Amino acid sequence: MSYNNLISKYSNGITTITINRPKKLNALNKATIQELHEAFDAANTDEDTKVIIITGSGEKAFVAGADISEFADFSVEEGGKLAAQGHELLFDFVANLSTPVIAAVNGFALGGGLELAMACHFRVASSNAKMGLPEVSLGVIPGYGGTQRLPQLVGKGRAMEMVMTAGMIDADKALNYGLVNHVVEQDELLPLAEKIASKIMRNSSVAIAEAIHAINANYETGVNGFDVEIEAFGNCFGTEDFVEGTTAFLGKRKAEFPGK
Ligand code: COA
Repeated sequence: MSYNNLISKYSNGITTITINRPKKLNALNKATIQELHEAFDAANTDEDTKVIIITGSGEKAFVAGADISEFADFSVEEGGKLAAQGHELLFDFVANLSTPVIAAVNGFALGGGLELAMACHFRVASSNAKMGLPEVSLGVIPGYGGTQRLPQLVGKGRAMEMVMTAGMIDADKALNYGLVNHVVEQDELLPLAEKIASKIMRNSSVAIAEAIHAINANYETGVNGFDVEIEAFGNCFGTEDFVEGTTAFLGKRKAEFPGK
């Protein structure tokens, strides 16, 4: 499939989606959000894709936020609709995909950009990356999950400070906060994400999908995550991957999992 605002490439079990609006620092306009939805959906349903990596084109930005030029004259209703559609098409959608999604944060990840990185299952960053939620400097608040996912990842006090000051933190501070898992030089970023992806791919995609579902349940209101875990654990016993994984272990050989 070809897109106007992104590039999606498959290689060796990994689909890498690169947001490609470098002149606008990869800002998320409506068309890009729609294309991202389609690209993530296609990768998630593709039998061969075991891991998805999302990054930004150019050396400067992952994503510098939602496209401010598109919503500057919005009404209350339009603002609410913008956030709701964004959650449905992209942010909640990515968080709940059954295929692992790694954000490779290669520069500025601001506003909707940081919210997209936070919706991914985990993040790695290049040493030049800068992250923040500057929305209150525009007279608005984070509307793509930032007020919920930032405190989940860094704690309430740090999230409050980041949101209220509208400031940016550098990659080392993001590592220290637990917002990203690893920091490397920019040219090592995609190789690192691919190395982690290759470790993930050795394991059962079916079990990983159940694990994502169970871990996400910890953050859902009114849901007992332990109950979700028990059900997901039980489900695994009915899968070919479980038969293969346990048989291989007991037979002292490497497991060959059939796929998604
Ligand atoms: N929405 C729309 N356009 C954006 C954008 C955004 N979120 N972020 C950057 N751009 C555009 C700029 O308008 C500029 O376009 P132009 O060349 O047509 O004028 C281009 O991207 C380059 O950005 P510029 O500001 O010139 O780069 P810089 O290196 O001076 O500054 C930033 C980089 C990231 C600090 C700055 O672009 C910025 O503050 N962006 C907005 C961040 C933000 O508030 N995001 C939250 C949105 S809710």
